[in-house]
Amino acid sequence: MLFTSPKKENKEINLKGAVQINHSSFFVFKDTDGCTYLKSGNDEKLHKSVVQKMINSNPHVTRLLKRFHIKPSIDTKTLNELTSGHMNDTCNIAMGVYSVLSNDIKNKVDKGSLKEASMLHDLGKVLIPSKILNKPAKLNFKERKIMNIHSTLGYELLKTQNLSEETLALVRYHHQNLKHTGYPALSADNTSSDYGVQIISIADKYSALREARVYRRRLSRTEALLILYREVREGKIMPAIYNALFKYAELYDVD
Ligand SMILES: [Fe+2]
Ligand SMILES: [Fe+2]
Repeated sequence: MLFTSPKKENKEINLKGAVQINHSSFFVFKDTDGCTYLKSGNDEKLHKSVVQKMINSNPHVTRLLKRFHIKPSIDTKTLNELTSGHMNDTCNIAMGVYSVLSNDIKNKVDKGSLKEASMLHDLGKVLIPSKILNKPAKLNFKERKIMNIHSTLGYELLKTQNLSEETLALVRYHHQNLKHTGYPALSADNTSSDYGVQIISIADKYSALREARVYRRRLSRTEALLILYREVREGKIMPAIYNALFKYAELYDVD
């Protein structure tokens, strides 16, 4: 894990125990706030069977895979790495950003859903072919299209798992921006607030920039903040959310 949460958040992130989802336990945990987390572990067979149950419980998942000519295969190794690394970091950053926001904005965001969604946001990558996920070069047009359905896939996998509408919307739109030029396009029935989407989105981007990728090195705190500042100037990120990330990074991220 790269990032630490503000001290008062640390305790809340401790996992408490297993919960049941579709009669399967061990895979998802709840913390002391009642938020849901994926469990990072190495019981591959169990993880596969839980994801398979999620697939079976929503026919949209299979339809989506068919439409994009993706052969169903469950990559639990990637899921474990994402869970203990990127998704955990994204959750810590999202909570850190939330903690330094003004009360006025805090009141517009459901903290529990934000926490839950940031820990689950890239679940859909479990179904993205690993040769695309781990390609050590820029994705071509077709590969990019496939990669971009991971947020919709995550939403569809979780839709039948008794999560709140807000958690589901945040998972679905974590690649959306303030100009609404991200993906997927907002549906007519979208009820998520721009604030929640903005926080999960900035936390996701900052976390990714601070990690090494097969095609680039890990960026420094200043480099990552500068890249995101460009998005503020392009109208994709709210200045208030960026300022909160800046404050959080200064306080809790080590360059
Ligand atoms: Fe994502
Ligand atoms: Fe992500």
